[in-house]
Formats: sequence, C-alpha cells, structure tokens
Amino acid sequence: MAAKKRQAWGTKLGIIMAVAGSAVGLGNFLRFPVQAAQNGGGAFMIPYFVSLLLLGIPLMWIEWSLGRYGGGFEHGTAPGIFHTLWEKNRFIKYFGVIGIFGPLVIFIYYTYIESWTLAYSFFALTGKYAGATGQGQMQSFLNAFQGLEKNQFFDSLWIAYIFFLITFFLNITVIYYGIKGGIERFCKIAMPALFICGILLAVRVLTLGAPDPAKPDWNSLNGLGFLWNPDLSALKDPKVWLAAAGQIFFTLSVGIGVILTYASYLSKGDDVTLSGLTAVSTNEFAEVILGGSIVITAAFSFFGPIGAQEVAKSGAFNLGFVTMPLIFQNISFGAFFGFIWFLMLFLAGVTSSVSLAQPAVAFMEDEFDISRKRAVSILGIVCFILCQPAIFFLGRGVVDELDFWGGTFCLVLFATIETILFTWIFGIDKAWEEMHHGAELQIPKIYKFIMRYVTPVFLLVILCWYLFSSGIDMLIMKNVSPENKPFVLGTRIMLLAILIGLALAVKFAWRGKRRTK
Ligand code: PFF
Repeated sequence: MAAKKRQAWGTKLGIIMAVAGSAVGLGNFLRFPVQAAQNGGGAFMIPYFVSLLLLGIPLMWIEWSLGRYGGGFEHGTAPGIFHTLWEKNRFIKYFGVIGIFGPLVIFIYYTYIESWTLAYSFFALTGKYAGATGQGQMQSFLNAFQGLEKNQFFDSLWIAYIFFLITFFLNITVIYYGIKGGIERFCKIAMPALFICGILLAVRVLTLGAPDPAKPDWNSLNGLGFLWNPDLSALKDPKVWLAAAGQIFFTLSVGIGVILTYASYLSKGDDVTLSGLTAVSTNEFAEVILGGSIVITAAFSFFGPIGAQEVAKSGAFNLGFVTMPLIFQNISFGAFFGFIWFLMLFLAGVTSSVSLAQPAVAFMEDEFDISRKRAVSILGIVCFILCQPAIFFLGRGVVDELDFWGGTFCLVLFATIETILFTWIFGIDKAWEEMHHGAELQIPKIYKFIMRYVTPVFLLVILCWYLFSSGIDMLIMKNVSPENKPFVLGTRIMLLAILIGLALAVKFAWRGKRRTK
C-alpha cells in the first residue's frame, strides 16, 4: 500500500511558534505568579530552575526527538511511538494511551476557562464589570457569570455558555484547517500579538509608581521585591520542590503527549535540539519576565503586602478575574488595559488548547486512516459532550478533579514512562544519535548522564511522593465535601470510560494489521 502523506509544518519558525504557543498559556500569567508567591517568593526560583534544567529541558528534547522518530513511521501519538520503540512488548502501546487521554482531559476544562477570558475582554470594552466596585462585588460578578449564584449582574449561565460556544468553535476551526493551514497560521499571528500585549501590560504595571500617594511604599518596585525577595527557609519544604516541578511540567506542556504529536510532523533531517531550546526560552521569557511582572506587582501596588499575600492565597482565578479587573478600574485607560489583559490570556489560551486536541485527531488519522476533517468532526462532538460537566457543575469539584488527573498526575506518570523508554529501552546511545540528526545545536555531553539517570530518578521520586502524600487522600476523596462527592465520582466514571474507550481503540487499531513498526 502506498504510504499516505502525513501533514507537515510549513516552516521551522512555524513549529517553534506552535510549540511555544502550546507552552505559553494561562499557566504563565496566572499559575506561575501565584505558585511563586505561595512558595517562598524568589526562593521558589531555585527549585524552579533546577527543575527546568533537570526535567523541563531534557523532556523537551526527548519529546521532540521521539515525536520526529515516530512521525517517520507514520505514528503521531504515544501508542504508536511507544510500540515502535519497544516492539517486543505487547503492552507498551497501552501506556501510550495516557498521551491522548491526558491532553483530552485538560482540554475539557481548559477551553471553558479560556472562554472566560474572551468574555471578560468584551466586558472590559463594554464596561460591563465597571459596575462592580470592591473585591466582594467583583467576586459576585464572577460567581454569577459562572452560574454559581444569581444577582444583579447575571441571572443565568447563558452569557458564559455563548462565549464557551464561540471559543470551542474557534478551537475546532483552527484544528480543522490542519497543522500548516490552521495551527501554524494561527500561532504565527497570535504569538507576536500576545507578546505585544504582555510587554504593554508589563510596562504599564512597572510604571505605576505608588498609586496611593498616602502609601508611598506600595509601589511597583516594592511589588517586584515582594515577589522576588527569597525566603530561603522555603527550600526545606518538599512541597515547594514539588510545586516547582509541577509548574515546569505544566508551563512547558511536557510530559503529556502534545509535543510528541507536534514533532511528528517534522521530517528526519529537521533540527530538534535548537528548536526545542528556543521554544523553552520563549516560554520562560513569557513566564518569568512577563508573568512575573504583571499580576503580583500590580496587586501589591494597589493592596499592599498583606493584601497581595491574601490575593495570592485566594488562587490564580481570583487574581486574574477579580483582582485584575478591580485594578484596571483604578488606572487611566483601564478599559483598554483590561481588554489587552484578557485578550492576551485568550490568545495564550487558544494556542495552548489547540495543541491539547491535536493528539486525538492525529491518533484517528494515523491509526484508523480517518480523514482529518472527519477526525476533527468526531473530536468536536465527543469533546463538546465531555465539556458539559465542567460547565454545569463547576462549583462541584469537577474541574479540580480533572486538573488533578489530567494536569498533574498524568504528566508525571507519562514523563516517567517516556524517559525510561527512550533512554533505557531504546538506549541512550541510539537516543543521543537520534536527537542529533540534523541538529543545529550540540547538546552538552552532561545531558547524556542527566537524561539516563537524573531525570528518571527525579521523576520517580516525584511520582512516589504524589502517590504517598496525596494519592490516597485523593482516591478516597478525603478533601471533597459530602455534597460534592457524587459529582467527583461521576467525573471519575467519565474519566475511566474515556481511558477504557481509548485503550479499546488501540486494541482495535492494532488487531489484524500485522504492524512491522
Ligand atoms: N502550557 C500551558 C500553560 O502554561 O497554560 C498549559 C498546557 C497546554 C499544559 C498544553 C499541557 C499541554 F499539553
């Protein structure tokens, strides 16, 4: 049978933008500053950079290489890629299911949160949230928008639902047009646009000075100090290390399968080492420089040290959707900057969510020979249904549950499996050679040692830590309130059904066909 031609990226810049687009997301601007503020401020950056060097960068290279390797055998997702790496093992392909499952689970809630940013960018322009003054009212505005309460701002979930539909449709449309015509084209416009928004916002926040003349200490410079002055005692707490490693995974989009899929559309001679590192650097600029200058600094200038601490404790969503709109109400051209803030989050969100949906599409195309357009239609229908619980039972712990399994646990598990497979089963020497095909950057030799020993051990330690420290509590729903338990249980049944469905799909795809690779 003549080989069907797989899709391909148009340019090198295109794939770098797409991978960086996947990495730069809501995590950079909301999750990162909150994690840093809660975990030792500047001291957080020590475990953060250690994790970047020992986990993030090696995993990025491993995934780019694995993806490109798998693409050569017409496999764009983990089941097929794992199978080609360890042909003798009949079960390894089933572990690859996590590489489609994890992204889908994140997609289910991520797209909904992304749609809030689109809604709020409209609200900023139309002055809709301008009527909410003070923390309490802005919180009520958010709650009513999400359908958690009814008040003068909203009396149903419909506005949120409409924005969800628009966001969902946009995501599906981008994927529908394919790797080059959809994802690459979109990222090439969205990425520069979001960087312009981010730089504008960072400059605005850093030049705020002291907004309240009566409190000259509450200024942006001290705000930076508040976030970055190290509390070195935090380094003794393993939770801080875990938080830093978790942030590296989430922000770089590694350990989940999406980069495998993106890289599978490269050809053998394309560089992966320099390109992977460029994507990492782009993400780190957006995270540390932009993400680290905007929200916490602004919150400090307006609410002072105690207020900023409280805001950081209240979590990433409150910071983004309650505190930031309040701040924008108090600066000149606030409507404009509010719009820019939410537009930036929205663009960052879409470039990430499309990457989450692509593995499922690639799986259908590669393993079932389904046409792209049909695959996208199937994905659209299935995901649309799966998104509903996150929307309608938002206050019931559904999103937290999806986030734990998809956005935390699966990342570490999958990263551990792929690293061991590549550096031990496939073998570090072959892996090293594979990485350096067409390489424009020679990776320092020390990484041979890091990838073989340090990264897997680091991953296994994190994995065991998760299992022992929170795994059992999580399984028995220790921290779930009794009235939420049925919803969390329902979510688990849904997750299990997706997992079993995917495993059966893999079984079915491999049945009958005697696959050589
Ligand atoms: N990296 C994205 C962020 O920082 O928001 C989130 C994400 C996207 C995680 C894609 C995982 C992924 F596969």
